[in-house]
This record gives sequence, C-alpha cells and structure tokens, in this order.
Amino acid sequence: MSKHQLGYIVFGLFTLIYVFGYLNLGWSLSYFIWGLVVWFLLILYGSFFIRTNYHLKALTKVKTDKKIVAITFDDGPSAFTKEVLDLLDNYNAKATFFCVGKNVEKEPEVLKSIIEKEHLVGNHTYSHSKDIGFSWTKTVKNEIEKTDEAIEKFSGVKPTYYRPPFGVTNPRIARALNKTGHVVIGWNIRSLDTLIHDESKIYNRIIRQIQPGSIILMHDTSERSVKVLERLLIHLNSINYRSVTVEELLKEKS
Ligand code: NI
Repeated sequence: MSKHQLGYIVFGLFTLIYVFGYLNLGWSLSYFIWGLVVWFLLILYGSFFIRTNYHLKALTKVKTDKKIVAITFDDGPSAFTKEVLDLLDNYNAKATFFCVGKNVEKEPEVLKSIIEKEHLVGNHTYSHSKDIGFSWTKTVKNEIEKTDEAIEKFSGVKPTYYRPPFGVTNPRIARALNKTGHVVIGWNIRSLDTLIHDESKIYNRIIRQIQPGSIILMHDTSERSVKVLERLLIHLNSINYRSVTVEELLKEKS
C-alpha cells in the first residue's frame, strides 16, 4: 500500500467520525474543513517531492560507507552532452543520463556515445510535457514506452530506470510504472542548475550536501551545467569520491 492509499483510508475514517460528531455532538464544520485542507496539502507535497515516496517508491540515495555518488543528467541528449561526456572521461567518472525520447531521435549519435562510454541511460518520458501530472495512465504509459523504443532502436539497450519529469508523481503515474516495470530513480541533491544562474552558487549548493551514496540531479542542457560539472569532478577527486552509475550505486544497497 502506498502512503497515498493509506492517506485515503485515514481521511475516510476521519470523515465517518466527523459525520457522527456533527450529527450527534454538535461539532462545528470548520474543523472538518481544516482536516480537508491538511489532507489536500499533504497530497500536493507528496506529489511534488519525490523524496517523500508518497505515491511510489523511488530510490533517492543509497546507504553506504563507500565514498561514491551518482551524478545524473536529465533532459538530454543535447548539444552539450558531448562536453559532459568528455569531462566524465577526463576525470574517470561514470554517470546516468535520463533521456527524453524526442531528444534521442534528434541526437541518436550522442545517445550511442553515452552507451559506448559505459554510462547508463534511463527513461525521462518522450515529450517531457508540463502536463504529465494531469495525464491519464495510458498517456503516461505511452510516453514511457515510446522512449524505451527510441532508446532501444538507436542503442540496442532497453532502459530499466525511469525518472519522472519535474519529480512529479501521482496515482496515475504510479499505475503506468506498475505496468512498464521501471525502477524509479529520484535524487537527494538537487543542483537547481536550470534555475540558478550563478555557477558558484550551484556548485556550492551541490558540494555542501555530498555524502556517501548521494544521487545528484543535474541537466546536460547548458554550458553553465558543463562548467559546474568540471568543478564538481575536481572537487570529488580532491575528497577521494568517485561518481558511478545509478546501477552501480544500487549494488551497494544492503
Ligand atoms: Ni526533466
């Protein structure tokens, strides 16, 4: 049972008790409305923060003593991915790329080099639509399957891992993933590299949160992120940390 389903049951019981209190004990309706508001905010919080595992179980970090982290890149492949790959090579690091299906079709060669360089490719939906949170189960399932097909067509590898766009989850997305069987990967360090413009701010935000087993969310879609990545890789080397793929990180899970 998901936390969301449990929430439904708890709220259902609360409603039953309240109806009784309202009819027999003269309870005021205002407390019920407060209960409703709290429940609604809880659902919103659970839907937007993947770390809460509210609708589904997502891996957001791994407990380990080893000095390893998983750097992940969303929304590519793009014109910047090649620079990212070169940097990863230079610093002997492995990463995971959650690719958008339509971008895979635009940049199939880049996808191939990600695989050739032994990084991991995951699924990040076909169109990365802002409406994904309002889409039907069938639409979400289609988005995921179309992306798997595109990735498999160009690289011969079918992704096992999925990352929800914007980190948004809900019961329909959970149902779609139940059908496709992907392992859901979140993060515990969000770089905010698409929102913050100051490279140093992004860099400091990441490094102050680094711990063994962290999953770092970045984007291979801008020069800014490439610059932050170089500083991050230098820093990881200096503190004897290594970046591995999400799959490698999962092997540490006890
Ligand atoms: Ni994204």
